[in-house]
Amino acid sequence: MLRLDHVTKHFGGVKAVDDVSLCFKEREISAIIGPNGAGKTTIFNLINGFLRPDSGEILFKTKPITGLPPRRIASCGMGRMFQDNRNFGTLTCLENILLAKKGNPGENPLNSFFAPGKVRRFENSNLKDARKWLDFVDLPNMENVPAGNLSYGQQKLLAFARLMAAEPEFLLLDEPSAGVNPTMIGHILNLIKRIVNDEGKTVVLIEHDMSVILKVTDLVYFMDDGRVRTFGTPEDVLADKRVHEAYLGI
Ligand SMILES: Nc1ncnc2c1ncn2[C@@H]1O[C@H](COP(=O)(O)OP(=O)(O)O)[C@@H](O)[C@H]1O
Ligand SMILES: [Mg+2]
Repeated sequence: MLRLDHVTKHFGGVKAVDDVSLCFKEREISAIIGPNGAGKTTIFNLINGFLRPDSGEILFKTKPITGLPPRRIASCGMGRMFQDNRNFGTLTCLENILLAKKGNPGENPLNSFFAPGKVRRFENSNLKDARKWLDFVDLPNMENVPAGNLSYGQQKLLAFARLMAAEPEFLLLDEPSAGVNPTMIGHILNLIKRIVNDEGKTVVLIEHDMSVILKVTDLVYFMDDGRVRTFGTPEDVLADKRVHEAYLGI
């Protein structure tokens, strides 16, 4: 589904990502782990087009996307959720989700005059889908509540609903469990499993919580100092001495 081939990105003298090759399979949950400054977020920025690699190639569904602008990569089916959620706090939950769908004909004012039926049909189906995703993430009674009034964990769920409404095939999740309580973590893990098993998506997450890694991932890459040091099943990677040293300092 996604492949990085010998990708390098330096910032001045800092080798943030140094000759990294990664491969993510369709309908799998993979994780990138590693200490702060390892290059994990830079990898996400390279994949979704916020950054351009100095060298190497990125292939999405076998097509090169290296150096394309983020909106083009997003329209190929790449979705990204940020650690800080990025909901619109003064808009209601429903409004936040309605904004996510691509290709709204109402964004062109001429369509309101010359193709009102097309605009109405889009808006009706968008509304139906937005409610479906609110239900999917288990926020069914929050439709008219401003996003800013939600708890942090609920805001995370709303961010998932917005992501799903954009209909991506491939989801990049930056620390989806960070800062939420253990019950909510369980809920989010369930959600991620349903997104893959029921909705057929492919997921890559950056994650610090090792219990999360063990519960949901098929494949783990461990990065340090801009390089992939080891990869494999979560059990194998977490048993690796270098991973222990990086995380536990032993
Ligand atoms: N825009 C940038 N400009 C300069 N240095 C950066 C930039 N982004 C990241 N870095 C550096 O690249 C390295 C990797 O950062 P990052 O990908 O954010 O690591 P991680 O997400 O694993 O904590 C760090 O040393 C960081 O300081
Ligand atoms: Mg980071």
